[in-house]
Amino acid sequence: MNKHIQIAIDGPVAAGKGDIALRLAKELGLVYIYTGAMYRALGLACMSQSVPMDDQKKVLEVLQSIKIGLQYSPLHEKPYQVFLDGEDVTDRIIKQDAAMAASRVAAHADVRHEMVEQQKQIAQGKSVVMEGRDIALRILPEADLKIYLTASIEERAKRRLEQFQKNGIEKTLSDVLSDTKKRDEQDMGRAADPLKKLPDSWELDTTNLNQEQVVDAIKSELSKRGLL
Ligand code: DC
Repeated sequence: MNKHIQIAIDGPVAAGKGDIALRLAKELGLVYIYTGAMYRALGLACMSQSVPMDDQKKVLEVLQSIKIGLQYSPLHEKPYQVFLDGEDVTDRIIKQDAAMAASRVAAHADVRHEMVEQQKQIAQGKSVVMEGRDIALRILPEADLKIYLTASIEERAKRRLEQFQKNGIEKTLSDVLSDTKKRDEQDMGRAADPLKKLPDSWELDTTNLNQEQVVDAIKSELSKRGLL
């Protein structure tokens, strides 16, 4: 494998970006960076300070006043952890309110600008697999492989429901389906860097694939490009 490799994964809600990126990180010895966790932590901070999420100036002030930490520890039972001002919020940010808050604060151009700067710093000089909505576009425009990971909305909602159930969060499939649609609309419809597949991204539809098959497909694409 190359000495230095950077893989960007973008895609809609619950396309499997996190699970796949974590598997790739472990198998290829890369650092896993979950950028959505940072927007979720910011959303959480805004909720706890009762800051209106539509107010760009106030949301930016919150971002500039907090410290968000990401930690990747492949051998730990929690392979990644997210810290907000030193407090471990990993379990808290998976909830639906944090996801929706993240999507709302992520709509502001100035907030994105600041996040992009922080996220570029985190990735700098490292071999990484980084996932989010603007990785190929803004964070790693020179990535060795840019993946656009997707799946049908029904399959994504089903997978997200299973994740919630695993974490003891009670939801119905129709709730999860409507939240997924709403968040997709926000993330793809915003003016500031909306989620979209770039012309130089490689699209992988995972609707009928299990995680192992997705990882194999990505590894074979890396080999084809002489990156493995
Ligand atoms: O990946 P996720 O679902 O945990 O991300 C939560 C929200 O954060 C998502 O709905 C949109 C936003 N986000 C973003 O705009 N840009 C990123 N790079 C990552 C996440």
